[in-house]
Amino acid sequence: MTAPFGIKEVREAYMRIQSWIHRTPVITSATLDELAGRKLFFKAENLQKTGSFKARGACNAVFLEKQHNPNSPGVVTHSSGNHGQALAYAAKCAGLPCSVVVPQGTPRVKCDAIQHYGADLVFCQPTPAARRETCGQIAAQTGRAVIHPYDNYSVMAGQGTIALELLEQVPDLDAILVPISGGGMTSGIAVTTHHMQPKCRVFAVEPFGKQLQQCLEKKQRLWPNPPQFLNTVADAIRTQQVGDLTFPILCEFAEPNVFTICDDQMVEGMKLAWERSKMVVEAASGAAVYAAVRCVANVVPDVERVGVILCGGNVDLDTLPWVKPDVSY
Ligand SMILES: Cc1ncc(COP(=O)(O)O)c(C=O)c1O
Repeated sequence: MTAPFGIKEVREAYMRIQSWIHRTPVITSATLDELAGRKLFFKAENLQKTGSFKARGACNAVFLEKQHNPNSPGVVTHSSGNHGQALAYAAKCAGLPCSVVVPQGTPRVKCDAIQHYGADLVFCQPTPAARRETCGQIAAQTGRAVIHPYDNYSVMAGQGTIALELLEQVPDLDAILVPISGGGMTSGIAVTTHHMQPKCRVFAVEPFGKQLQQCLEKKQRLWPNPPQFLNTVADAIRTQQVGDLTFPILCEFAEPNVFTICDDQMVEGMKLAWERSKMVVEAASGAAVYAAVRCVANVVPDVERVGVILCGGNVDLDTLPWVKPDVSY
């Protein structure tokens, strides 16, 4: 199978979005290199517009929607926050109306940001089915185009621009570690890396309970249905199943080995990034930091130069995972 988008679409996406996004820096840390026993290169998408890499895919998809349909009534999506925030930003840049469906319990910082960009915020029950249904109803009522957070080739091509930049910024990477939820970012990065630097291996980093490795190894969707959210501190990567469109791309272009990280380890990864690199990252990024620093040496010891995607920095400062609630002040 060949991916329905390739380096051409990723390069076109980059031309389309580059004046609306940041070319994020790559951060290094001698201390973290020492702990990991190899060179680590942190791609700081926590510093991206809207606080996560999601601005890339959302801008590409929304700008294409406007290009193909100049009278578009707008866009709508369902998202645990970061894609919603990014879609609201992209729609504002394109001058299109936007609605965002989020599950109840989404961190306040993410809800505030979605509204700040001018989108309508719609709450629903925290189940994948409720999210899809509410989003579908809004699309039917308003005619707005549904921009899926990951199962959309324009979104995947937009996320691929992370690798386009990273592989230019750092030559000769052996591997890239990518926190995964629905798989849009990993698909985009894996396809781009395959074209630009085929020897560089792309590994997904998942929360405990996702069970992606056995699905990738067997190339079968072995997950229980209906789809579930995982109980993890990393609120951005709670979806257990990757997408129907992303799964075949992951089977073909990503490594079947997956790094599985539990909550305590993600928090340790977050703290390492905060303390050692002074980077405010959310738990999904912490998963990749932990995998790079503590796991790569055991799982793939031959890998020496590792790109680590700090995918987002949208943390709610009132509910940091290592702070016990204190009502005394
Ligand atoms: C911060 C962050 N990291 C990682 C991911 C996973 O991205 P994907 O769903 O494309 O796998 C998300 C998705 O929402 C995210 O917000």
